[in-house]
Amino acid sequence: MSVVIVGSINQDVVAQVERIPGPGETVLASSLLRSGGGKGANQAVAARRAGDAAVAFIGAVGMDADGDALRAALMTDGIDVSGLSRVDAPTGTALISVDATAENSIVVVPGANAASETLTAEQRSVLASARILLTQLEIPIPLVEDAARTRPSRTWHLMNAAPSAPFITAADTLLPMIDVLLVNEHEALDITGADDLEVAVTALASRVRSLVVTLGRHGSLVLCDGDRAQVPAFPADAVDTTGAGDTFCGMFAATIAASGRTPDSVDVALLAGAARAGAAAAALAVTRPGAQDAVPTAPEVAALMKEANA
Ligand code: RIB
Repeated sequence: MSVVIVGSINQDVVAQVERIPGPGETVLASSLLRSGGGKGANQAVAARRAGDAAVAFIGAVGMDADGDALRAALMTDGIDVSGLSRVDAPTGTALISVDATAENSIVVVPGANAASETLTAEQRSVLASARILLTQLEIPIPLVEDAARTRPSRTWHLMNAAPSAPFITAADTLLPMIDVLLVNEHEALDITGADDLEVAVTALASRVRSLVVTLGRHGSLVLCDGDRAQVPAFPADAVDTTGAGDTFCGMFAATIAASGRTPDSVDVALLAGAARAGAAAAALAVTRPGAQDAVPTAPEVAALMKEANA
């Protein structure tokens, strides 16, 4: 079953700092790392490393050395990049600071990611093979909508509403196109304008059939058709949380793909199992620096789940 990710791809430039600087402040970094990034590309890598699913990535890079290197890295992972366009704009870049507590702050310069609001003919033909479409919001909303409308019937649309700001303005259009909405707790609060997570979860669950809210070290909440499950996290010694949410989403999508189920047969147990696998992959990812560099392989995830008797 094929998983097609439509989304962003960035060259991450990561500075390791003791603490993230405040406005007007300068701090010195102890190291600098360049890593493949972009929420979409990170999710593609996570879905591919998760197991046997055929994975294709649809996005855009510039005609520059970063674009070439990012494309080559996806190919090395066995990801179909025939839907990765080369456009007349610089490849996206993310400037990331990671502090001593493994938290980060990220500034994205979208570049090529913002170049198009519709799929190309080549990208449409890649999407035609999808059984799972996975999107996020670091690309223009019209492009996300085009992909959601173009996907074959009975193809899942999993949306990770990250970053949350674009979702807020487009929620009325996007929500009817989504089979499973994946957000973290901050995004859930941001999207709904609620101060209380339970209020936010209730509000979101009333507007989408299936909802997953990740809660960091507290695991995740899964809601579907009025049923609800609390899925525990795996303990981890985090050094860098960059891309952990993307790793969760990629593994979640691959697990749904492996089930062979269609969106009309969704239930909370299926989603909770996928969330548990996503949590295991994310727990491993945070123990390593970088985004795509940190994504674990299927045997690593299986070993962790076995060890935890998951
Ligand atoms: O989610 C982490 C990602 O956000 C980074 O890889 C960075 O590129 C930004 O897109």
